[in-house]
Amino acid sequence: MAAESRRFRDPEEVSSELETAREIKEGFASRGLVGERAPGYFIRTFGCQQNEADSERLAGLCEAMGYSPVPVPEAAKLILVNTCAIREHAEKKALSIIGSFKHVKDADPDVVIGVGGCMAAEEHRANTLKMSYPYVDFVFEPASAYSLPSLVKDAARGRRRFVRESGDAIAEGIPTVRESSHSVWLSVMYGCNNFCSYCIVPYVRGRERSRRPDDIIEEAKRLVDGGAKNITLLGQNVNSYGKDSDGCCDIAELMRRICRIDGDFELRFMTSHPKDASDELIDAIAEEPKIVKHFHLPVQSGSDRILKLMNRHYDRERYLSVVDKLRARVPDVTLTSDIIVGFPGEEEEDFLDTLDLMRRVRYDMIFSFIYSPRVGTPAAKMEPRVPREVSAERMERLLALGTELSEERNSRFVGRTLRVLADGVSRTDPGMMTGRGSPARPVHFPGGEELTGKFVNVKIKSAGAFWVGGEIE
Ligand code: 5AD
Ligand code: SF4
Repeated sequence: MAAESRRFRDPEEVSSELETAREIKEGFASRGLVGERAPGYFIRTFGCQQNEADSERLAGLCEAMGYSPVPVPEAAKLILVNTCAIREHAEKKALSIIGSFKHVKDADPDVVIGVGGCMAAEEHRANTLKMSYPYVDFVFEPASAYSLPSLVKDAARGRRRFVRESGDAIAEGIPTVRESSHSVWLSVMYGCNNFCSYCIVPYVRGRERSRRPDDIIEEAKRLVDGGAKNITLLGQNVNSYGKDSDGCCDIAELMRRICRIDGDFELRFMTSHPKDASDELIDAIAEEPKIVKHFHLPVQSGSDRILKLMNRHYDRERYLSVVDKLRARVPDVTLTSDIIVGFPGEEEEDFLDTLDLMRRVRYDMIFSFIYSPRVGTPAAKMEPRVPREVSAERMERLLALGTELSEERNSRFVGRTLRVLADGVSRTDPGMMTGRGSPARPVHFPGGEELTGKFVNVKIKSAGAFWVGGEIE
């Protein structure tokens, strides 16, 4: 019970924040600032799906405070930036956007500006925001997002706040405004215990904390009742789900229980650590029709020497044995991966091992990144650094092979009919729709807005590296 109460925030704390939100809303209402006249909020989100899901909770809190969404920051009374710290590029972009909000505050000093997310949880970045961005009213780490109403209240009274390390207990019961009603994120756990040597996530998002299965299933039921057709379970390492809570079910059992919910929907999950990819999870993917046959299994490198330096706790052989097991149980599985090039000490030979592993696995798609040193992680002190131009050249070769493999893998769909969830009309070509096929491919097909959020059967006629195309049958 003690562990349980440490894992979760006291519900009183959450209800006190929701009470503050109500007070703020009533304050706006008493000044006639409701409906069309409600103050605007604008959230800019960087980074991964976890951040997108967090922003949906921030949006829920903004609306509980009486704000309504506006499309541009200039129209907002509350601006939030949800930052990412995974690579330097993401941080620079966030800092530059935050810098650009100075003119909004100059034009209207009543505008409240807050910065959250992973970058906000780094001490050196939080200090920079405090010292060099005086128009930023508050900074909060991901686990403190639930306290947004009191941060906003304090900002309105002219009190700047910088919340770091307020503890990382889970706050249940936060209102959520989702971007889409048919395709939804569902966080099942937060944080990461793996400490891969290059990664900042465990430092900024804390240790693994799993939500209770009943809370997740309850939320999944509500989402399905609300029209969700695609639910993606989220966690930094969903394979560890439940390991922090005695007697709790694991990810395979959780997914099987969600599949029992009545309704026509599909279930996805991300991300997985290869060392924890269990036979039970593979069985669940193979046996449950609602689980999309897609496995995102980041390998990071194909070199045993580099994998060791990365602290990944598996070698090529072990990784390939998971892939073999998966392919044996789910022959049509779509396999995707993350790969880092230019990790400290990576030699040409190590890189060739990565290319070789890619050829062995035949990935449907890879997401590749040039190594970016993160302050406070062990790899940031490792030598020798790979020169930028060497990493860039390796990246080009990696992308060329990735594209070749994707084209080859996508060609297997030509002539087949895929069940596709229509996501929306293409931004560049209004007569076309994009959707997600099972197994997981972006699918393009002629269609109109009325199909959004519906399942359609698409006969695939063509395939490129990044999509497949066809027509509704
Ligand atoms: N530099 C480059 N890529 C990184 N990733 C994580 N940390 C770093 C870093 N310091 C990549 C990994 C991870 C993905 C989400 O981001 O490939 O799987
Ligand atoms: Fe980072 Fe490794 Fe955790 Fe993924 S598993 S979030 S790469 S530390």
